[in-house]
Amino acid sequence: MRTQVAIIGAGPAGLLLGQLLHKQGIDNVIVERHTGEYVLGRIRAGVIEQVAVDLLDEAGVGSRMHAEGLVHDGTQICVEGVRHRVDFKALTGKTVMVYGQTEITKDLMDGRAAEGAPTIYSAYDVALHDIQGARPRVTFRKNGVGQEIECDFIAGCDGFHGISRKSVPPSAIANYERVYPFGWLGLLSDTPPVSDELIYVRSSLGFALCSMRSPTRSRYYLQCSLAEDVDSWPDERFWDELKLRLDDEARERLVTGASIEKSIAPLRSFVCEPMRFGRLFLAGDAAHIVPPTGAKGLNLAASDVQYLSRALVEHYRDKSEAGLDHYSERALLRVWKAERFSWWMTTLLHRLPDSDFEQKMQLAELDYLFRSKSASTAFAENYVGLPY
Ligand code: FAD
Ligand code: PHB
Repeated sequence: MRTQVAIIGAGPAGLLLGQLLHKQGIDNVIVERHTGEYVLGRIRAGVIEQVAVDLLDEAGVGSRMHAEGLVHDGTQICVEGVRHRVDFKALTGKTVMVYGQTEITKDLMDGRAAEGAPTIYSAYDVALHDIQGARPRVTFRKNGVGQEIECDFIAGCDGFHGISRKSVPPSAIANYERVYPFGWLGLLSDTPPVSDELIYVRSSLGFALCSMRSPTRSRYYLQCSLAEDVDSWPDERFWDELKLRLDDEARERLVTGASIEKSIAPLRSFVCEPMRFGRLFLAGDAAHIVPPTGAKGLNLAASDVQYLSRALVEHYRDKSEAGLDHYSERALLRVWKAERFSWWMTTLLHRLPDSDFEQKMQLAELDYLFRSKSASTAFAENYVGLPY
């Protein structure tokens, strides 16, 4: 098989890149380790910034998002039972869109299928070859048969545990990492959300988040220990613990019900530098991870894909290498800003082990955030993702 760009991974980064390239007449093949159903079964992001909304429109898959997504003008932060609101629209003129990653992925998959662009699911033993040469290759096995793709470029969009980043010689890449001593236990239920806006909760019992997918589907998270086992959290226990962390009004309004998904996610900050090695370009979680507190992971994946797709179009159409040469540097500038915000929001709102001093600092910082217009504006700018 021969293509212009071989894309590893059919998550949001790989599918969005494939769609944007296809629209510009650039041939691409996506190789994905799992089945499409498996990819759609992973419940992850819920909040997307205008940059990602615009890109989904550009990719021609935004119509359902505009019809079903919820536009949020602000968010709420609850500190020890007292609710505060940050008004994004008043402070920045911008809003965010609440629309699940599962729906985005489905829209991108449907768009790709409609255009007849190839995605190879259930591919195993995926390997990258000659990434520094003029003709890189991707090999894999499917149904027991070995296959090979020859290409001009490889886009590594295969997430944190993928093969692309690991294909770069360790001496050519620097990794920066922080692993947090807690995780998030998430629950999805067909119950109406407790509030019209997300509520980020800082309580002495630990962080909680009330989010949503639609007016009838809610997503809740609880800070939990890394040793926690999802099986020891029957729905009743989850709801009881959530109620303890909420303010009185939310506790009263909370509608509980059977979970349709429950899972634990570890929290990590991670960046690898550079994001390019020869003809391999890393994008999304393959190159960086943020803790989900700032709702930045999927949005960063989208902004990487924006830079990379534009650079590839410049290469093929204008015969210019400038975009490809600057890709890593440009993407990393944005990545580190989102890393900072996600780290800051995580350390501000979670219960940190053995740290009376840090707890006092959190409370002082939160008080400043709500009282100072410039601090609220800075928070809102970061959350909605204004160009930094
Ligand atoms: P992935 O979604 O990980 O996709 C990578 C794909 O590559 C997968 O399909 C995988 O199967 C495939 N793959 C892996 N290895 C191979 C291989 N060897 N060969 C072929 N294919 C391979 N972000 C936000 O912006 N807003 C939010 O509100 C938000 N909330 C979140 C909540 C939680 C609980 C979590 C865990 C994450 C959240 N995120 C959020 C982050 C967001 O989900 C990720 O950043 C996003 O999925 C990254 O997309 P990706 O395509 O880069 O990687
Ligand atoms: C979600 O709805 O899954 C979600 C929302 C906001 C976050 C993280 C996750 O910061």
